[in-house]
Amino acid sequence: MEFEEIKRLKRTVRKAIGGEKGTAVFFEHPTLPEHGDYSTNIALILAKKRKTSPRQLAEEIVENLKKEKEKIWEKVEVAGPGFINFWFTKEYLLERAKFINHRQKLKETLQKKGKGKTVVIDYSSPNIAKPFGIGHLRSTNIGQAIYNLYRTLGWKTVGDNHLGDWGTQFGKLIVAIKKWGKKDLSALTIKDLEELYVRFHQEASRNPSLEEEGREWFKKLEEKDPEAVRIWRACVDISWREFARIYRLLGVKIDFAYGESFYQDKMEEVVKEAEEKEIAKKSKGALIVEIPGLSAPAMLKKSDGATTYLLRDLAAIKFRLKKWQPDLIIYEVGADQSLHFKQLFAVAEMLGWTKKVRLIHVAHGMIRWEKGKFSTRKGETIHLEEVIQEGIKRAKKLIASSQTGKNLSQKEREKVAQAVAIGGIKFNDLKQEPQKDIIFSWEKVLSFEGYSAPYLQYTLARCFSILKKKSFSGEVSLPEKINKEEESLLRTFYRFPEVIAMAAENFSPHFLAQYLFELAQKFNLFYQKHKVLGSNRENFRLFLVLTVKNILQQGLEILGIEVLERM
Ligand code: ARG
Repeated sequence: MEFEEIKRLKRTVRKAIGGEKGTAVFFEHPTLPEHGDYSTNIALILAKKRKTSPRQLAEEIVENLKKEKEKIWEKVEVAGPGFINFWFTKEYLLERAKFINHRQKLKETLQKKGKGKTVVIDYSSPNIAKPFGIGHLRSTNIGQAIYNLYRTLGWKTVGDNHLGDWGTQFGKLIVAIKKWGKKDLSALTIKDLEELYVRFHQEASRNPSLEEEGREWFKKLEEKDPEAVRIWRACVDISWREFARIYRLLGVKIDFAYGESFYQDKMEEVVKEAEEKEIAKKSKGALIVEIPGLSAPAMLKKSDGATTYLLRDLAAIKFRLKKWQPDLIIYEVGADQSLHFKQLFAVAEMLGWTKKVRLIHVAHGMIRWEKGKFSTRKGETIHLEEVIQEGIKRAKKLIASSQTGKNLSQKEREKVAQAVAIGGIKFNDLKQEPQKDIIFSWEKVLSFEGYSAPYLQYTLARCFSILKKKSFSGEVSLPEKINKEEESLLRTFYRFPEVIAMAAENFSPHFLAQYLFELAQKFNLFYQKHKVLGSNRENFRLFLVLTVKNILQQGLEILGIEVLERM
């Protein structure tokens, strides 16, 4: 995905290198500002082909570039062994900042990228009869941010919550409910269900015949036995009420929740297709698919005839392909399921389903808890709701004891505490690559100074407050001399669309999170050193504040972090 800047750069560089066709020209943002806005290694690559010195070639290219008419950069320089670094002119940077402030134009440009394309995002996907755990929190937050990124880029986005509401574990649960549960199903709570499930496993280790009973009940469920279905339905309802509450707290809404049970009557078709295409075979009574290069075969049916998680996932692919014709299906699921997705994608390919669709597993790492902070008792999962409540409690305390909440009413403070806590928890999932494990520390999650949601929310609220005192108006022009802090802001704005595209392409919202953080830091540096209101270039500075505000606001919205105008 390319935007204006890169397109223009490429065009000119292609000319400057003699229009050699098929030569890919790459640009990147140097990490150090001394190396310009963009940098390319094209001379290093071409020199190898042409067998000349890269540095010399770089200098020739730069000479050619200087002859080009496109004067959007003020400086082009050769660096190191032959890198070429580019600096945009400030006039051009100002133009780009204006473009970013033009909501409609920005929106249209962004939306062009994904026009006509469809993505299905499979995320959140908690399991029925178990509390909503921390693992599903990551999937929910990262999945939602990826959804928002693609939507911003004009893709048709379909969110599907692939609830774990089917499988052999429900046979076990039914046995446990019948043996030890309350008679009145509607009186069961999610905690009861969790305890019953744990009890089943304890008792089954002493009495293995229970496992057999569990299998029989799942079989009955698959055969639509009315009692089995009634108990299962009650479990789904209890869990769904709990999930709905959590989604409301998180401010997340997922388009569909077909769930695994939806595929009950769609699995046989897949089995047939796999048999007809001769990729499935019987092995010790089970139905498996052997995958070249993978030692573990994929299992479609167990030896007792029960269907598997994998088979339901296959049925889901088939269904999604038919219903939405997606170009891309993204699964935001923990890294512990990597083998499952390798198998799934391989079988889908063997079935010939993947000619027009790309399947991606965004495998997130684990959350580790700082020692002693949220210790779990043995085997017990951390309940998300407790984490959220704890966060709100801590945020309230923080706000009560800080400058922040001073001018706020009690009600506003509550709202801020909730937004800061939930924003903080979400941002913690988004701030680094999904693949990495993250450490959960309340100090970091709720920090007003670090790489955190509250810091960004606070910076944004500061922009709002400045603009409330006086808004930017009319035309903006460059001041005679622009200072370092102003310039560093100008050199950051234009990257916003590109960062959105990069985050989407890499399925990694952290690129956006990092960019917003960088911008906020630059803004705060600027704000500490220079006054905005009453300065001799008030309007220009108000324009900078406005641009920061617009970017932070849209960026936080994409990440699903609540925006506060006052805090
Ligand atoms: N319910 C599963 C779990 O909690 C996650 C499902 C992920 N999505 C999928 N299509 N397999 O482990």
